[in-house]
Amino acid sequence: MEFLKNIALPQSAEHIQLLHLMLILVLFLFIPFISSIFGGTSLSLYFKRLGRKSGDDRYNKLSKEVMELVTINKGVGFIIGIVPLFTAILILSQLFQNSENSQLDYFGYTLILVAIALIFIYSYRYSLSFNRIFQAFGNQPSNDKEVQGDYLKFSGVSKRISDQAGTYGVVILFIALWLFSAGISAAMFGNQWLSGGLFAVLFHPVVILRLILLLIVAFMLAGGAVLFGFFYMNSEKYDSDGEYGKFVRSRIIKVVFTSAIFLPVILLINMFVVPGQLLSSAMFVYVILGLILLFFAYHFLYMLYTKFSSKFTALLFFTLLFLVLSIIINDQFVINNATEVSSAKLADKYEKMLAELKGENGPAELNGEEIYKIHCTACHRLDSKLVGPPHDEVVPKYFGKENQLIAFIRNPVKVNPDYPPMPNPGLKPREAKAVAEYILKRVKEDLDKNK
Ligand code: HEC
Repeated sequence: MEFLKNIALPQSAEHIQLLHLMLILVLFLFIPFISSIFGGTSLSLYFKRLGRKSGDDRYNKLSKEVMELVTINKGVGFIIGIVPLFTAILILSQLFQNSENSQLDYFGYTLILVAIALIFIYSYRYSLSFNRIFQAFGNQPSNDKEVQGDYLKFSGVSKRISDQAGTYGVVILFIALWLFSAGISAAMFGNQWLSGGLFAVLFHPVVILRLILLLIVAFMLAGGAVLFGFFYMNSEKYDSDGEYGKFVRSRIIKVVFTSAIFLPVILLINMFVVPGQLLSSAMFVYVILGLILLFFAYHFLYMLYTKFSSKFTALLFFTLLFLVLSIIINDQFVINNATEVSSAKLADKYEKMLAELKGENGPAELNGEEIYKIHCTACHRLDSKLVGPPHDEVVPKYFGKENQLIAFIRNPVKVNPDYPPMPNPGLKPREAKAVAEYILKRVKEDLDKNK
């Protein structure tokens, strides 16, 4: 996937903002869809087992209907499952084109596994419908014993294939979600902690935490979607007070409730693992918002439990969707902070490219001020912190040591752990000398003025 970085273009600061927004949008399509498919298929397989064990045919019916609901239909499934993920990979390859970050590989594997899993899951889904047709035929009193026998044999084989396809699908999708968690974590927290090979990464506490979060969301959303899809969207077909309606209600509410109980803890732990330099106040706002939404979700769930009404299934479902959105936006803030240096460099490259296109970069004489404006102001101010430290603070130690400053500018080394490392601005020796002379002079003037 690294090759994608080679086709990436420098971006202006505005484009970069836009890319971040698009990333939110595509993830908001991908995450709810893929997680409810995962949750729904797992539930369907589980209900099917219960049906086989207890002989209660309502479980088989529920198993099939849950599947039909969460998978929508084949075309839509592949479009919402694959296209947004592919778009996300393209966007991330733009955002991270300057950093050595391997999250693109994880997303690449995720993409392949999701595609394979969807094939299995859709075969499972369609075989369930066939099974019920076979069963209907099998139960038909037929005079022709041979025909009936064929049907039963057929339906036995098809049942076995279908269960296996469902299980494979869920297992592969689980691995895909795991790799996806690794990719998102790598995008959020960078590569520092991600050394040590694939297994070290997959079992890193941060990645495990993300995976748990995703699984909880999966069952919550799948359950919410079933309640909403059955009793609100198809209320004429499903009588919530009928015998089957009550059966479905009690099973699904239990699923949503059990998963929702663990969410607040995970959300809070999740916030505490974000490294300090990547925290921002906007993040706290979204965490609080997430907790408020969760509180509403609990409330609607409680209402559904005590006094079922289809109105609350809609409220619950949309609250859960917004909750997921708030988590995605929250992650986005971290990714935004993590790509700050890379983005500033991109914007800088873009300005240079634009200047070249406009022919403003002629062989004019070297001017320290110009170089400073083009190469340094994306990250530095004299008296305030931007991406890099204020020059008034860090440059005085180079007074009288111009050569050391030139050496640093030509080849920056890590100095202060509170900042990310400064990327190499790629100046020629003469340019570095000119800009070094310029900032030494400027900082001296600025400090004298403020005395
Ligand atoms: C992409 C952002 C970025 C750009 C562009 C950038 N810097 Fe920096 N600069 C940083 C960061 C981040 C640090 C802090 C590095 C550290 O402490 O490890 C830094 C640190 C410095 C320091 C302090 C070094 C020290 O010893 O404490 C100087 C001096 C400096 N930059 C000069 C420049 C000059 C001159 C340019 C333009 C040619 C420039 N920077 C361009 C991000 C940038």
